[in-house]
Amino acid sequence: MMLRNLFLALLSATLVVGGPNAIGKRQSGTSVVNLGNNTGTPEHLASGVLYGIPDTANQIPDHFYTDMGFNYARAGGAQVPAPGRGWIWGLTEYKNRFASALSNYKTARKYNANFIFLIHDLWGADGTQNSSAPYPGDNGDWTSWDAYLTQWISDMNANDATAGLSVDLWNEPDLTGFWDRSQAQYLQMWGRTWHRLRAEWPSVLLTGPAYAGSPSSSNTWWTEFCSFVKSNASVPDQWVWHMEGGGGDMESTYGELQVLLKTYGLPNNPVNIDEYSTYPEQVPSGSAWWIAQLERINAHGLRGNWLSGWALHDFLASLLSKPNAGTSSYSETATGYFPVGDYQVYKYYNLNMTGYRVGTIPSADLALDTYVTVGSSLVKILCGVRIETGTWQITVNDLSAVGLPTSGTLDIHTYEFYTNGYYAEVDAPLDLGWYEHTYSGNSVTFPIYQVNTTTAYAFEFYVG
Ligand SMILES: *[C@@H]1O[C@H](CO)[C@@H](O)[C@H](O)[C@H]1NC(C)=O
Ligand SMILES: *[C@@H]1O[C@H](CO)[C@@H](O)[C@H](O)[C@H]1NC(C)=O
Ligand SMILES: *[C@@H]1O[C@H](CO)[C@@H](O)[C@H](O)[C@H]1NC(C)=O
Ligand SMILES: *[C@@H]1O[C@H](CO)[C@@H](O)[C@H](O)[C@H]1NC(C)=O
Ligand SMILES: *[C@@H]1O[C@H](CO)[C@@H](O)[C@H](O)[C@H]1NC(C)=O
Repeated sequence: MMLRNLFLALLSATLVVGGPNAIGKRQSGTSVVNLGNNTGTPEHLASGVLYGIPDTANQIPDHFYTDMGFNYARAGGAQVPAPGRGWIWGLTEYKNRFASALSNYKTARKYNANFIFLIHDLWGADGTQNSSAPYPGDNGDWTSWDAYLTQWISDMNANDATAGLSVDLWNEPDLTGFWDRSQAQYLQMWGRTWHRLRAEWPSVLLTGPAYAGSPSSSNTWWTEFCSFVKSNASVPDQWVWHMEGGGGDMESTYGELQVLLKTYGLPNNPVNIDEYSTYPEQVPSGSAWWIAQLERINAHGLRGNWLSGWALHDFLASLLSKPNAGTSSYSETATGYFPVGDYQVYKYYNLNMTGYRVGTIPSADLALDTYVTVGSSLVKILCGVRIETGTWQITVNDLSAVGLPTSGTLDIHTYEFYTNGYYAEVDAPLDLGWYEHTYSGNSVTFPIYQVNTTTAYAFEFYVG
C-alpha cells in the first residue's frame, strides 16, 4: 500500500510541475504506441523456453504451461550426468540422454508446442565435454557422425517423434565451448546433415545457424554460412541466432539479417531467437522488454536458461520455483511448484493481452519498450525498461482509432509486475489503481518512473 501511494504521488506531482523529465536525472525517452496500426493477432511469440522441463512426465502441473502460452521448447539431454552423457560416451550413455530429450519432446507436444531438438547435446557436446571430445568429421572421418544420425533417425521414427519437430543442426558453433573445430568443418557438418535430414523427413524444420553472435556483414561465421548454404542448397527453414549478450536489439539485428539475405540472395525465412535474455534480464522489466522486441519483428523467442545440472531441466527456465529450489536440498523430482514474479508477465501476456496487436516503437535510447493489444473493451500496454533506472514516458497516439474522443480525460489502470528474487513466490501483479489523465490532440503521454531495474508495468484503459 505504501509503495502504491508513493507511485501515485510521484505521478501526480510530476503532472503538476509540468513534465516527466522534471525529476528524471538519467536517460529519458519515449516509447510511442500507434493505436491505428493493427499488426495482427497475438500469438505470444515469446512464450518459448530453452530446457526447463522436468524429465519426469507431468511433474509440473498443466496450468503452468497453458497459462503462460507455452508454445516452443528446445532440448537434447544436456547435462544429464553419467551414464547419460551422450553418443561420444557410447550407446548406453546415448540412450539415457535420448530418453531425457524424448520425454521433453512428449511434454511439449502435450501442449501442442513445437520442439527444437538439440542434436549437439545428444552427441555430447553440451559445453561440459572434455578437451579431447570428438567432433563430427574429425580428420575427415564422418563414420561416427553418420552412425549417430542413423541411430537417432531410427529412434525418432520408432517413437513417432517427428510432428512439431525442428532440428538446430548445431548450437553456437561460433563458441569454442560448443564447437572446438574450424568453421570449414562446421560447414561440412551443416551441408551433410541438412541434406540427410531433409531427405529423411521433408517436413521437419531444419534451423540455424543458432550462433551466439548476431547477424552482421562483418562476422565471418555469418558471411561464410550465408555463402555456403546458398551454394549448397541447404538454407535453414528459420534463421536462428541468440540474444544473450545483454546488448543489441531486435530491429537492428533483424536489419543486419536483411542485409545479409539480400547480399547472398537468400529467402527471408522466419526468425527464431531460440535463446533470448541474460540472467539479470529474467525479471519482469527485462521480460516485458524482450516480448516487445520479439513481437515487433514477428520473431519466435525462447527464454534462455541460466541454470545448470538438473535445475536446467526444471522451473520452465526460471519462471517457477518450489520448496528448496536454489538450495543444497534441491531435488529434481520434488513438486510443489509456484510461480515467481517473472511468470506473471507471461501469464498476463498470454491470457490477458487479447484482441489485436498494434505497432509501437521503443524509446530512442532503446531502454523502454512497449507491447500493446486492443481488445473488444480494453487497450493493454505492457512495458519494460531494460535493466536501468530513470524516467521515461509512453505516448499513445491515434486514440480515435479505438473510438475515443480526440481530447478529454482518460482513466488508466496500472498493474505492477514485481519480483522478490529468482525463487520467490509471486501469485499476481499488484493493482495500483486508476489515474485520470487529461489529454488533447488525439494523444496521451504519461511517465514511467523506473526506480529499480526489475519492475514492469501494464496500463489498461477502455476503448470508446
Ligand atoms: C574425454 O571425453 C571422452 C568422450 O568424449 C572420453 O572418451 C574420454 O575418456 C574423456 N577423457 C577424460 C580424461 O576424461
Ligand atoms: C552440401 O554439402 C555437403 C557437405 O560438403 C555435401 O556432401 C553435399 O553434396 C553438398 N550438397 C550440394 C547440393 O551441394
Ligand atoms: C487477466 O485475465 C484473467 C481472466 O480473465 C482475470 O482473472 C485477471 O484479473 C486478469 N488480470 C489482470 C491483471 O487484468
Ligand atoms: C506498424 O507497426 C509495425 C511494427 O512495429 C511497423 O513495422 C510498421 O512500420 C508500422 N506501420 C505504420 C504505418 O506505422
Ligand atoms: C521496485 O520498485 C517498485 C515501485 O516502487 C516497488 O513496488 C518494488 O517493490 C521494488 N522492487 C524491489 C525489488 O525493490
